[in-house]
Amino acid sequence: MMEFTVQLKDASSRVIIERESHLHLKDYINFNCKVMVVSDTQIPLSLKEEVMAQLENATLVEVAEGEVSKGFDTYQMLLEKLLSLHFSRKDMVLALGGGVIGDLAGFVAGTYKRGCRFVSIPTTTLSQIDSSIGGKVAINLNGIKNCVGCFYHPETVIVDVDTLKTLSKRHFYNGLVEALKAGCIQDPVIFDLFKEHIDEIDVESPYLEEIIERSLFMKKRVVEKDEKEQNIRKILNFGHTIGHAIESIYHLHDYYHGECVANGMIMIEENEQIRHDLIEILKKMNIPFVTSLDCEECIRFIKNDKKAKGNEIDIVKVNELGKAVIEKVKIDDLRQYIRRSL
Ligand SMILES: NC(=O)c1ccc[n+]([C@@H]2O[C@H](COP(=O)([O-])OP(=O)(O)OC[C@H]3O[C@@H](n4cnc5c(N)ncnc54)[C@H](O)[C@@H]3O)[C@@H](O)[C@H]2O)c1
Ligand SMILES: [Zn+2]
Repeated sequence: MMEFTVQLKDASSRVIIERESHLHLKDYINFNCKVMVVSDTQIPLSLKEEVMAQLENATLVEVAEGEVSKGFDTYQMLLEKLLSLHFSRKDMVLALGGGVIGDLAGFVAGTYKRGCRFVSIPTTTLSQIDSSIGGKVAINLNGIKNCVGCFYHPETVIVDVDTLKTLSKRHFYNGLVEALKAGCIQDPVIFDLFKEHIDEIDVESPYLEEIIERSLFMKKRVVEKDEKEQNIRKILNFGHTIGHAIESIYHLHDYYHGECVANGMIMIEENEQIRHDLIEILKKMNIPFVTSLDCEECIRFIKNDKKAKGNEIDIVKVNELGKAVIEKVKIDDLRQYIRRSL
């Protein structure tokens, strides 16, 4: 078992990484309040039942599967549900699901009555590796990802690798991309684990636990230094500037988040050796390579990026493994990177 705390200025998140921990929630969390468990329709019933069986005063609300639920209709429905159940700020929203549920339920928790209790049980590789910590919670607006949101940290995060057993292979590898990113920007040990052992990494493998632990710990260190993304936290966006544009062009559903980030990393990577290794690893993970992309549309989306300032944007580059740097570039100059991979 591994346990650590993400210590922020005004909040903290206790992170538990342990197999079977989702079956012993009361060992870690005080449930002396009302609880609204937010999950989606595709998450296995057995998982929901295992969680609900441990809670006396809980309501399960299931939203539609997928990115579509990170929208205003679902957001409002959940808030209305909390209100009708007379939830106070001392009551709890519990996210049981992937990054979509974490982002949505976290934004609900962070904004209902200016913030109620929030706990997260991430059930995808992506959410266990990345999205469950750091406090970024958001929904989409008019097809623009994470356009409306805030920073709100879960008080506890229960990472149980066993919950991943039912995840599809595509989602499993999609989430691992964020760990590969962590390896590139900060932790070469993670990168080497991928390079040497990618064929052996599955739910049962101790390599998977090591990858998840190291990735979360890397993110903890970065977020603690720069919670609100003023400087070093920007390195977590490696591959994301072009990745988010690809996600938007494909209407947030043809390619998954990690798959888009993978393509974004390959496009922006300039060190030939790292780029070659990345491509070989991603091939083994069956990540689809985007080969037809409207470059001008991509540039238009990047100009709408939250991180764009006028015609410039901060881009993360990895010229040496584990040593990400932030460079200001003209958005128009990104064309050369996008075209290179098409
Ligand atoms: N807040 C952050 O810091 C942050 C970081 C990265 C990504 N994100 C967001 O995360 C979202 C993507 O997250 P995701 O990839 O987890 O997608 P997701 O939440 O849609 O989950 C993927 C699919 O897996 C299913 N699923 C979840 N757990 C399962 C399980 N244990 N067994 C079987 N099926 C299961 C879900 O029903 C869904 O169909 C995006 O919206 C992205 O913007 C947020
Ligand atoms: Zn990401």
